[in-house]
Amino acid sequence: MKYTITTPLYYVNDKPHLGSSYTTIACDALARFHRLQGDSVLFLTGVDEHGQKIERTAKDKNLQPQIHCDEITIKYKYLWDKLNISYDRFVRTSSFEHSQLVNQFYTRVLDSDDVYMGRQCGWYCVGCEEYKDVDENQKSPICSIHKKELEWRDEENLFFKLSKYQKQIEKLIKIDGFISPNSRKNEIINFVSRGLRDFSISRVNLKWGINVPGNTDHTFYVWFDALLGYVSGSLKDQGNPELTDISLANWPADIHVIGKDILRFHAVYWPAMLLSAGMKPPISVFGHGFLTREGQKMGKSLGNVLDPIELLEYGGIDAMRWYLLRDIEFGEDGDFQMRRFVDIVNSDLSNTIGNLLNRTITMSKKWFKDCIPIDNPSSIQSKLEKISKIKIDEYMSSFKENNFKNSANSIIEFANCANLYLNERAPWKLIKDSNNIDIVANDIYSVLESCRLIGVLLIPFVPDLSNRIFNQLNIDSSSISFVNSLGWGLLNPHNGLQDPSPVMDKIEYKDSSIL
Ligand code: MSP
Repeated sequence: MKYTITTPLYYVNDKPHLGSSYTTIACDALARFHRLQGDSVLFLTGVDEHGQKIERTAKDKNLQPQIHCDEITIKYKYLWDKLNISYDRFVRTSSFEHSQLVNQFYTRVLDSDDVYMGRQCGWYCVGCEEYKDVDENQKSPICSIHKKELEWRDEENLFFKLSKYQKQIEKLIKIDGFISPNSRKNEIINFVSRGLRDFSISRVNLKWGINVPGNTDHTFYVWFDALLGYVSGSLKDQGNPELTDISLANWPADIHVIGKDILRFHAVYWPAMLLSAGMKPPISVFGHGFLTREGQKMGKSLGNVLDPIELLEYGGIDAMRWYLLRDIEFGEDGDFQMRRFVDIVNSDLSNTIGNLLNRTITMSKKWFKDCIPIDNPSSIQSKLEKISKIKIDEYMSSFKENNFKNSANSIIEFANCANLYLNERAPWKLIKDSNNIDIVANDIYSVLESCRLIGVLLIPFVPDLSNRIFNQLNIDSSSISFVNSLGWGLLNPHNGLQDPSPVMDKIEYKDSSIL
């Protein structure tokens, strides 16, 4: 089945931060999960380069906007490579192909008679790139997100007839699974029930944008342009952007993963724009929560922004990916705590999983060298087989609900059971009597087989660590899929094992103010 997944297209006003890394890691886990399920995945990410915010940032740095965008884009790509993000396409909204697509899309919207010239008066936040509803009596209103003064605007803009789509949007947002999590769905239902208002899709006095055909002094509103990045990135023929059925084979997106602050754009404005252009709306939109740090919102003014590169250098890629997916409830706000980061990673990855593998390989090599004396591994009797089936089922159903935390829990519970099994069976005592050799072989094999399964389940979360586990077990990881790898007894007992070496080093706690 096709599965098209998107991250937001990140503003290039600054280098990537932990919030953008969080969304992208979550999308990567989903993409990897679906590949393991055998889906034909298109994983799309990219950058949102136009608009006043970027134009001003470039000006402050005395750079041409395009040069500025190029510099920041390199930083995004660098970080995604460091985080082993398996994206298939990286969209740049400043590309020529994208602007061609925006023009074609706009023509369709015009053909639907959904555009008119109007006057836009109101308070604008450049940080949000959005007009804000403000109480009439307020003289100098402040943006609640950016804590900066809003700017008054009074200009002629082109408007999109959003109000025309009231009924269709009402119907769409009530569809089960269209908006997740449920709390956010209700938020959008309330918003739409108050009545949709047309919104302006062009700007005057803004050079850094795509020109509106037929209105030379207007450029497209950055959101009208950026949302279309999802379409231009998913086109089959990237070099020749055309809105044809063949080219749109990956459309609609199966899931747009975004932060809760931009849910309205994705769940309301965007589907209406697509309907206007005669295209299908996305299948689903997931609005996740915000990351805070030690209880405080991360922000430059507070000086508590956590640089993902520094965190990576400190804890490593597996630690960072695991912590964000395992500890933070996807959909809810979450707090990054250095102490917890260190404790969780050390406990789960180094102790529970790493030590289990290491000590079992050590015993296996000592007693059986490179061949565990077992003829038919699938006939091995072990309670770990039953446990593996239960935990795999739990893992799967949680993952299908984008509940990474519960999926990760299922892995750890499985590993805990394997540790307990080893401790209860105490093969180091049994082996003292040579009559027990078959029993010990059975136990050691069961635990190593559990480690193999754990390695498979870990792929979406921590692909690098998974690979190290497979290396220890001499497994070729290139052709792993859920269908061919989640059965019991698939580890070849005659395959041999590598010399035991820790798959996950412990992190030493560092006062969080250092990072
Ligand atoms: N450019 C728009 C998106 C256009 S999509 C066609 C944009 N960019 S952004 O860079 O400002 O934000 C991208 C995403 O990062 C948003 O989903 C936002 O919610 C998310 N986050 C920004 N700060 C965040 C945290 N502190 N924590 C989690 N996510 C955060 O909006």
